[in-house]
Amino acid sequence: MKEKIVDYIESNRDRFLEELFGLLQIPSISARSEHKEDMYKTAEYLKKSLLDAGADSAEVMPTDGHPVVYGEKIIDPSKPTVMVYGHYDVQPVEPLDLWKSEPFKPEIRDGKIWARGADDDKGQLYMHVKAFEFLVSEGELPCNVKFMIEGEEEVGSPNLGKFCKENKEKLKSDIILVSDTTMIGQDAPSITTGLRGLSYMEVEVTGPNRDLHSGLYGGAVANPINMLAKMIASLTDENNRITIPGFYDDVIEVSKEEREEMAKAPFDVEKYKKEIDIDEVVGEKGFSTIERTGIRPSLDVNGIWGGYTGEGAKTVLPSKAYAKISMRLVPNQKSEKIDKLFINHFESIAPPGVRVKARKLHGGEGYVSPTDQPAYRAASKAYEEAFGIKPIPFRSGGSIPIIPLFEEVLGVKSILMGFGLESDAIHSPNENYPLWNFFKGIETIPLFYKHYSEMAK
Ligand code: BES
Ligand code: MN
Ligand code: MN
Repeated sequence: MKEKIVDYIESNRDRFLEELFGLLQIPSISARSEHKEDMYKTAEYLKKSLLDAGADSAEVMPTDGHPVVYGEKIIDPSKPTVMVYGHYDVQPVEPLDLWKSEPFKPEIRDGKIWARGADDDKGQLYMHVKAFEFLVSEGELPCNVKFMIEGEEEVGSPNLGKFCKENKEKLKSDIILVSDTTMIGQDAPSITTGLRGLSYMEVEVTGPNRDLHSGLYGGAVANPINMLAKMIASLTDENNRITIPGFYDDVIEVSKEEREEMAKAPFDVEKYKKEIDIDEVVGEKGFSTIERTGIRPSLDVNGIWGGYTGEGAKTVLPSKAYAKISMRLVPNQKSEKIDKLFINHFESIAPPGVRVKARKLHGGEGYVSPTDQPAYRAASKAYEEAFGIKPIPFRSGGSIPIIPLFEEVLGVKSILMGFGLESDAIHSPNENYPLWNFFKGIETIPLFYKHYSEMAK
């Protein structure tokens, strides 16, 4: 089958890219209400893509938020069903001035596609549409296929759980296939076996009832920004461990054997540092970099604001200060429990002279995708055939909170075949996706279908 796919890609290369560029041109930023129409446009574009690729049916299904695109091809109800999940929404593009080319005018430079969503997740999800097209057009589709593509992943999938509950029958499948993660490298294919959970907070610190003159009042009134900075600093200790009482209670300590296994991953810390231009890696004492993101929780300030940030100087003691703080969790930590621990702790450490409020923005659980399931073995064979290298299991630091929810609501496990690279700059300016990865993904996916259908029989 492999030669056939390679030929098919070769003869359709330019059209595939043209179609992907059409998708990348629509600014489907889910967080911004001014893009509501663009969300529908993107969903319609994908519906047409699915029909053109050979789906029996496809529809744009409304939710209380942005719509879901659903499509399917059922060849034989007695055969296994693979459901592809992806998301067509993207992250905001700011800061715009750091982009070398415009985020919604995709361009090819240095063998890479440059655009917001080039990797996360339009590029990765479109590989699935084209792999499906190949299987249908060559009469090689070995199983039933369903597509569920949402438009709210980047804002925490607030409506997809309900959508799944309401469409349980329609979404019945044997495995959920997802390309929305990374692999270790082009010469080190890997299968994502873990995702971290997330607990995302916004905090507000209030001091005096108005901004004050910092000369008339400075030194005599608690400054909310100074206080917020102290509070944040106290959330981690000198070993970079999180100080919130009870935070680590449910963390499963990974066995020595498993840690030794993890250490075999071809991870080059020097290359990692160079890529992001830092002198030193910093994290929880006693753990390596891949352990710090793969099997340990973390706490980060995502944004902090208040007071005067405009041009020049304004002498002001602000009335308010804010921060957005996220905690990445490991499997078995429950995000709702962590939300409560955080809120209680943060409010309890409010220094005299200010009032502190913390509230949850979104969150979800971590996930472990087992290596002893047929889908893992099928994926492993597919990578080995396409790359000529056996893939290694690897736990990612990122989160896709809807994946554990699929298991909870639909009772279906997910297999995470990510083709992105850490250097793709997802969520950052100059997001990109190497053409090599895009086409390699299209080559690998049909092989997964083939092996999975044989194994799941
Ligand atoms: N595709 C990413 C998650 C990801 C990327 C996982 C790379 C593993 C490797 C997804 O679109 C994402 O950005 N998720 C958010 C969480 C969401 C609730 C906003 C994240 O991880 O920050
Ligand atoms: Mn994504
Ligand atoms: Mn993302």
